[in-house]
Amino acid sequence: MSNLDAAGTYTLGDRTVKRLGYGAMQLTGPGVFGPPRDHDAALAVLREAIAQGVNHIDTCDYYGPHVTNLLIREALHPYPDDLVLVTKIGARRGADKSWLPAYAPDELKAAVHDNLRHLGLDVLEVVNLRIMFDTHGPAEGSIEPTLTVLAELQRHGLIRHIGLSNVTPTQIAEGRKIANIVCVQNQYNLAHRADDALIDDLARDGIAYVPFFPLGGFSPLQSSTLNEVAARLDATPMQVALAWLLRRSPNILLIPGTSSVAHLRENLAVAALVLPDEAIARLDRIDAGRAG
Ligand SMILES: NC(=O)c1ccc[n+]([C@@H]2O[C@H](COP(=O)([O-])OP(=O)(O)OC[C@H]3O[C@@H](n4cnc5c(N)ncnc54)[C@H](OP(=O)(O)O)[C@@H]3O)[C@@H](O)[C@H]2O)c1
Repeated sequence: MSNLDAAGTYTLGDRTVKRLGYGAMQLTGPGVFGPPRDHDAALAVLREAIAQGVNHIDTCDYYGPHVTNLLIREALHPYPDDLVLVTKIGARRGADKSWLPAYAPDELKAAVHDNLRHLGLDVLEVVNLRIMFDTHGPAEGSIEPTLTVLAELQRHGLIRHIGLSNVTPTQIAEGRKIANIVCVQNQYNLAHRADDALIDDLARDGIAYVPFFPLGGFSPLQSSTLNEVAARLDATPMQVALAWLLRRSPNILLIPGTSSVAHLRENLAVAALVLPDEAIARLDRIDAGRAG
């Protein structure tokens, strides 16, 4: 039993994962591009995650590109039996570090095969389709043509389960008519709560919600309320932000990203952090756009 068990587990596809996982995006070079500054330090973060009991790692082949998948393979292959690697397709990187859609059937198929090769797998456990109508947030538009290609790759046995990322409730409803959707990965944190109703709807249907940028991503969370609550609990603001997410809904799985072993340990220690109701009430009042 690892310390992470205190945070509980949730179903992802037909696997059970601990609610505290790890997101690998921060392991690349600056701007999620190129190799890490310190290759061995990146491997150490991944190995420490496993040593601490993490069994859910989020990645994709366009981080770097290819960098995080190759690091994961180097650090962890052959993989522990209980490890669930979740990847995503639907985007690619321009030479100028831009984030571009990659939706053509050939691009989607190539992305699945690239992920399999770089991760050293025969089948991908969960693949999120990353919708790119607007890179920065969900935007309406049919996902049917793209998701149909993914569902076909699933029928061919290359993908076990399908998730959706950067999507609206309408797109999720459309997607669920085409494939069994096991998780949704959208931006959500203490100060960005557009998905509040969606999270509750997904929880009722047993679908995992995996917030990206749980700590604010490229703009780390800043809030005097968060700082005050953390100080009273003898915790860090980032720990309190993660603990609030764990309390928010049982279907939330955390994948905080870090390039640092010290931050990783700090983030995983949240499993043992209990937020009093009074702290939750104060944190609940932190609104998007005016955190404080
Ligand atoms: N589906 C999508 O479109 C999408 C988009 C973005 C991300 N993701 C996934 O979501 C995961 C999480 O998102 P993210 O990594 O971008 O953002 P995040 O987890 O919100 O924040 C990461 C940032 O917080 C810092 N940090 C982490 N732990 C800390 C701690 N204990 N104290 C202080 N600073 C800390 C990291 O810096 P250090 O490296 O210095 O710790 C990094 O700058 C990613 O790794 C990726 O797998 C998915």
